[in-house]
Amino acid sequence: MFLTRSLRVPLFGIVLISGFAAFGFQPPAPATPPAPPPPNPTQIASQEDRQKMMDLLHISSLRPGANGSNPQAPNYANYDESKANPYPVLPDVMLLKNGKKVKTAKDWWDKRRPEIVEDFDREIYGRMPKVTPAVKWEVTETLNETNGGVPVITKKLIGHVDNSAYPQISVDIQLNLSTPASATRPVPVIMEFGFIGPFPGRGPGPARAGGPPPPTGPTWQQQVLAKGWGYAVLVPGSIQADNGAGLTKGIIGLVNKGQPRKPDDWGALRAWAWGASRALDYFETDKAVDAKRVGVEGHSRYGKATAVAMAYDSRFAIAFVSSSGEGGVKIHRRNWGELVENVAATSEYHWMAGNFLKYAGPLNWNDLPVDSHELVALCAPRPVFISAGATQGDGWVDAKGMFEAAAGAGPVYKLLGRKDMGTTEFPAIETPLMDGDVSFRQHTGGHTPAPNWPTFITFAERYFSK
Ligand code: GCU
Repeated sequence: MFLTRSLRVPLFGIVLISGFAAFGFQPPAPATPPAPPPPNPTQIASQEDRQKMMDLLHISSLRPGANGSNPQAPNYANYDESKANPYPVLPDVMLLKNGKKVKTAKDWWDKRRPEIVEDFDREIYGRMPKVTPAVKWEVTETLNETNGGVPVITKKLIGHVDNSAYPQISVDIQLNLSTPASATRPVPVIMEFGFIGPFPGRGPGPARAGGPPPPTGPTWQQQVLAKGWGYAVLVPGSIQADNGAGLTKGIIGLVNKGQPRKPDDWGALRAWAWGASRALDYFETDKAVDAKRVGVEGHSRYGKATAVAMAYDSRFAIAFVSSSGEGGVKIHRRNWGELVENVAATSEYHWMAGNFLKYAGPLNWNDLPVDSHELVALCAPRPVFISAGATQGDGWVDAKGMFEAAAGAGPVYKLLGRKDMGTTEFPAIETPLMDGDVSFRQHTGGHTPAPNWPTFITFAERYFSK
């Protein structure tokens, strides 16, 4: 939010000057930019929670993030490939901690994968508690509607989380499910981490020039319906608030009985992914849904949650990870657009484990025991589609850094008898790499999944029509 404001200040100045000039007035000398408004109660509580975590970790200060909006700022985000790879050597996905190479699928499943999960749990996304409260799903409304002329049955659902251990906090998960009314057997479903309204606080990267207008035509839900599949929307904020102040509430606060997190406790991304798994539990009980063919999709912060959900719950059949960027499948070691330091900031640290802060303070990106190619590898052998927009408009998320994660997971896909992307060369924009089970496409639009929905659906059809 602060980043957006730094853009607005000069613009406001221009409007003011030309307005006065039109009336023959001399504009007053430009005042110093208005001070940012005082933080609101949520921001203050988030700052306090983050400070507590820093104290727990004995961290006295953290490095500031890159500035995503103002090219004049000394810390303006890097968009120059020649400066993007300070740490070109990634952790070896096929190397066990004991120095031995992973040779067989059994080595992967029994030894290497658990090592990687442990590192992501402890240092990156935090551990899901061993026991989480039960969720009781209630269909609160069933509607017969049409979408784009197609009759659908929509169920509005609430997942009531058992809070008998700590009744001061209640969590009611919101989920909508629509399936084609004409279906005669259970259908595949694509579930989106749903987001209503604009994305708060987004640093957009360099301004977008001359790209095509956003696609018109059928919505993603209509495109999914056209294949005879259903769609669902899960509301992450009903599972866990999207701010640090909320960490003592929601599912994280409920399990911790209202107390702050420990450094390896789960963050919001892992909590949202937990909610997605609970939605899948419900789908397993609903005869309208083929629960073996449920895909998960999300954009931006919800793209991060999608990657986490897919990595941790092997029941998800396929994933569409849209513009997930830093904290998602962008390589943490890359200096491009958003950085580890940004995700460690007050407005974003709650997505991650407290331990993640260390890598924006005493430690560096290169000290991370794992990187995002290993998150993609945790999804193997299941199909994953990684998506981004153009640098002009979606530069913040680092398309190339996400491509590299997709490529870096390739050896694991191959080990498990599937196909990698077939190349480690970053493709020209709009060149889909779809032959393998891990796939990638950069569209020419901005920060949106929309232009890549048709590509994803074609990809998913390969698996769902089997
Ligand atoms: C910010 C943030 C990103 C995030 C995005 C969003 O830009 O820096 O990490 O993906 O918000 O969710 O819109």
